[in-house]
Amino acid sequence: MKELIDQLYKNTVLTKEEYTQLITDHTAEDSEYLFSLARKIRHEYYGNDVYIRGLIEFTNYCKNDCLYCGIRKSNKNADRYRLTKDEILECCQSGYELGFRTFVLQGGEDPYYTDEIIIDIIQNIKDRYPDCALTLSVGEREHDSYQAFFDAGADRYLLRHETANNEHYGRLHPHNLSLIHRKQCLYDLKAIGYQVGCGFMVGSPYQTAENLAEDILFIKELQPHMVGIGPFIAQHDTPFANQPNGTLEQTLFMLGLLRLTVPYALLPSTTALGTIHPMGREKGILAGANVVMPNLSPVSVRKKYMLYDNKICTGDEAAECRYCMQKRMEAIGYHIAVSRGDAKSIRNEIII
Ligand code: 5AD
Ligand code: FES
Repeated sequence: MKELIDQLYKNTVLTKEEYTQLITDHTAEDSEYLFSLARKIRHEYYGNDVYIRGLIEFTNYCKNDCLYCGIRKSNKNADRYRLTKDEILECCQSGYELGFRTFVLQGGEDPYYTDEIIIDIIQNIKDRYPDCALTLSVGEREHDSYQAFFDAGADRYLLRHETANNEHYGRLHPHNLSLIHRKQCLYDLKAIGYQVGCGFMVGSPYQTAENLAEDILFIKELQPHMVGIGPFIAQHDTPFANQPNGTLEQTLFMLGLLRLTVPYALLPSTTALGTIHPMGREKGILAGANVVMPNLSPVSVRKKYMLYDNKICTGDEAAECRYCMQKRMEAIGYHIAVSRGDAKSIRNEIII
């Protein structure tokens, strides 16, 4: 497999069959080799810096019913909450004081937050913190809404594609949702001028190695600025309650493949990775990731944003997570950067 990894390192792309073979047949030694190359590239682009984003989970209402997700609308056991504009601004203030220069507003697809309300929140945040980047992660909306949010000052948008295979998409989502629309949203966001993040779960139910290869090839085509991946983790109140979780090993391997395929990309080492292994986030960084996203949500609501079981950091204040993360990154030789942490565009690899 080393030859294939070398080939990927050199050409930044493989065929679907080659990716599938790597994903299926690699050994532990192959993984270590992949990670060493992934770190090398990561260091060329980003040095030892780890970028931080302050995540504000501002609503756990959701009109959708994704089969894997703990805040799906049919989960009657979810204790629903919404943050007010002032509560969101307080999260930003404490985040700013802790050195965050990117805020990520993430929520379920909650129609309570009309375009007008979102625009007002965006304008307030950008007025107060003009040196910060603002990322939205509020799901699928109309092109004109995305445009209006961008015009109001939003810089980035995260919308995981979840899986690039149509049939697989249909097994993870109810019939009213479609992969084609989700992809269209991503292309619209990019055309509008957002820095865009897509992504997927590793080890989601029914996923095959070939599906993962398709995810990578879709990402190669989209050329997003960021790719968020993490293991699937069963949530006990969903139809997938009894499905096996994604593994640490496979998630790390996918991170390594992504670093070699989209070398410039921002790759977060996610909370889900930290949930399946106590050193998951450190291992993610050592497999090629370069971003962490500590939580800035008020502690009072954290346990309610339970997309999956056993989520970490739900009892910790923002400051605790911030300094915990700093210690963790320094322990493995990395350094948390106080900056917006934009994607690099070196060589001719990026991006409309
Ligand atoms: N396990 C892991 N990740 C999940 N997400 C939603 N539910 C789960 C789960 N059970 C991820 C999805 C979504 C992101 C916000 O969280 O990929 O896009
Ligand atoms: Fe939250 Fe360590 S990052 S407690």
